[in-house]
Parts: sequence; C-alpha cells; structure tokens
Amino acid sequence: MSLTALDLPRTPVAAPPVLEARSLRKDFWVKQGRRMLARRVPLHAVDGVSLQLVAGTVTAVVGESGSGKTTVARMLAKILPLDGGELLLDGEPAPRGRPRTYTRQVQMVFQDPFASLNPVHRIRHHLVRPLRIHHLGGADLEAAVADLLRRVALEPPRHFIDKYPHELSGGQRQRVAIARALAVQPRVLLADEPVSMLDVSIRLGILNLLADLRDREHLAILYVTHDIASARYLAETIMVMYAGQVVEVAPSVRLTDNPAHPYTQLLLSAAPDPDRAQPPSLAGSGAPPNLAALPTGCRFHPRCPHAMPICSRRVPPSVAVASGHTAACWLHVDPAQRTAAGEDGELPPDPAGFQRPASTPAGTRHPEEG
Ligand SMILES: Nc1ncnc2c1ncn2[C@@H]1O[C@H](COP(=O)(O)OP(=O)(O)O)[C@@H](O)[C@H]1O
Ligand code: SF4
Ligand SMILES: [Mg+2]
Repeated sequence: MSLTALDLPRTPVAAPPVLEARSLRKDFWVKQGRRMLARRVPLHAVDGVSLQLVAGTVTAVVGESGSGKTTVARMLAKILPLDGGELLLDGEPAPRGRPRTYTRQVQMVFQDPFASLNPVHRIRHHLVRPLRIHHLGGADLEAAVADLLRRVALEPPRHFIDKYPHELSGGQRQRVAIARALAVQPRVLLADEPVSMLDVSIRLGILNLLADLRDREHLAILYVTHDIASARYLAETIMVMYAGQVVEVAPSVRLTDNPAHPYTQLLLSAAPDPDRAQPPSLAGSGAPPNLAALPTGCRFHPRCPHAMPICSRRVPPSVAVASGHTAACWLHVDPAQRTAAGEDGELPPDPAGFQRPASTPAGTRHPEEG
C-alpha cells in the first residue's frame, strides 16, 4: 500500500459533533503479585480523554499497543462502561446502559474480521440479522442485503450473499463487517485497526472505502490505528495517545509535518515506510510504562530525549501550539511559568484550562525550529 502519492486529506470541519466524549476514564482492576500475596490494583487504561466526532470527517487515534485506543473506542460504543467522564450524542447526555437507540447510531468495526463473523453462517445471515433486529430493510430483505453489499463494493452481490466467511478473502470479510455495521444506518462508525490484520496489498481499498463512506454517507468516523501514515492519509484530525492519555491533537497534515510532542516525533521517526506490514518498532527507544505504576509527572519522561527536571515532578498542561493544535508537554510552556510551576508547585487547577501568559504567543515554536 503506498500512501504517499495520493491526495492529502481535507482540513477539519467546524461543525457540532455527533458524538462527543469528555474526560473519559477507565481503570481495569488486575491481580498483581503471587498467590497469597496477590492483590488487585487499578490499571489506568484511559485517563481524561476527550474527543469530538463530526459528521463527514475522520478522526484518527494513534499510539503504540497498550496506549488505550481500543478501550476508548469500546467506551464510545458503550461496550465498556465508563469509570469517569461522559458521552454526549448530539450535545445531549448519552442514554444510560446500551439501548438500541444508541447502538443503532454508533457502530463498531473490529480489528479481526474473521473473528467478528460467525463461521457457520452465510453472509446473508450476517446482514439480515441486524436489519430484522432493528426493523429495517422493508419488505424485501434480499434487496436490502444486496444494496448493503454494493455499498461496500462487493459486486455483484449474488457472488457473495451465499458464501461463508471462510470462502472470502480478509479484505472481503472486513467489507462484510462494515456492511453489517451500515445495515442499521449508523451516524458514527468506530473502526478499530480495521486494516491491521489484512494483507498490505488490500489495506488501501478498505481505507478508501472508509473515505467513501465519510464523503458519500456523511458518517462521523473514528479510525483507530498504530500507523500514523495511514492516519495522515485518511483522517482530518489526528489524536495521539500515550499511556492512556491524549498527548497531542491537530489537523493531520499539520501534526505529521510539525509534531510538537516528543512522543509524536518518536512515532513518526519509527514510521518511515507506509508499506510495512508490521506495527512500527520503537525498539531501542524504551517501552511504555506499567499502567498500574505510572511514572510521576509526564508519563513519557522516562523515554523522552528532551526531559527536564520538572517533567518527572509535574503533569504537563495541554498547551495550544497553533490554531487547532495542542500538545501536553512542558517544552511548550513559557520558561518563566515552567520554573514557577516546577519550583513552587503552583499549577493551574485544570490543565485543560491552562493559560499561557499574554507575552508568549501560543504556539508558534516547535522545539526543532529553535
Ligand atoms: N479487559 C481488560 N482487563 C484488563 N486489562 C485490560 C483489559 N482491556 C484492556 N486492558 C489493558 O488496558 C490497556 C489499554 O489496552 P487497549 O485499549 O487495548 O490498548 P490499545 O488498543 O492501544 O493497544 C492495556 O494495558 C491492556 O492490557
Ligand atoms: S513534558 Fe517533558 S518529558 Fe514529557 S514529553 Fe515534554 S519534554 Fe518530554
Ligand atoms: Mg487496540
């Protein structure tokens, strides 16, 4: 898959979000220690993640394995209950539990298309079922199924409708999984690493299908990936996660051309080849922290080549480094304020509302720009 020769994505759209997440938090309680000494400790998988999904746009969540991407997507789908934060659908608090009124609007596509389809059932069954459950498709279910297959470019539909999942290629199976999600006429599609288990040669086709659904059907799409090159190709906005937190958000071209956070810079340095089949290797640059025993201050500080004394003592605020571009890093805080915060321990109560002093225009400097 070559992503370099293709058009760059459009710029983010300023419109009210269909689905919004505010300060999501998820702790998994896991056993630590041996036998009699074992105790349950919280693993802080997601901590304070906020995002907005807008109709007709793709938002990518990028990060290494274990950074909390899937957990965020599963919370948005209400597959996992929230331990903190809130979800808003069209600006209103999302309903409690996981009612059909919600799941019909917010659908998830999983990483492994083979595991997500039932091997004993034909494709027809997979697509008829959601139509029946949600009372959709009208009188002619066969025609509705054929229409779904066409919408994901499985044509002619009669070649696929009576097949079993194992008779299809990985890419075709993922198209069926996407068709199944589309069956209930969702407004939000949460695609969790939808191409990472597919052959490199067919990944671009699935990414283009998602782009098509964004443009043609005006879906709000969350694209979860470890591959920042594909995020740049597909998404208008990229959100970078590290150890359960968002460390940088920006329009995708801006973020990949001018990464402000050292972790984003590391991710980009490990992603020189968009044709790679394997996840990027950050070997040699340390490992993500144990989420049950997080480093103090900036969670990235043990790996950061720019770490300063304050980084291990104080959580960095999220700072605007340019219009629509924020990074949670002390490098982008005015040195005087950094010193004051580090020495006096005086930090603003809410990092999200952190204000730069008027004398320091937000954002203009990137560490590599001198
Ligand atoms: N059901 C679970 N029980 C315990 N730990 C979990 C569970 N699901 C995820 N985790 C842990 O939460 C962290 C984030 O996982 P995940 O969201 O899957 O990350 P990613 O998708 O970025 O690879 C990881 O350390 C993972 O092991
Ligand atoms: S806050 Fe400090 S340790 Fe964290 S990324 Fe920025 S410079 Fe590196
Ligand atoms: Mg995942």
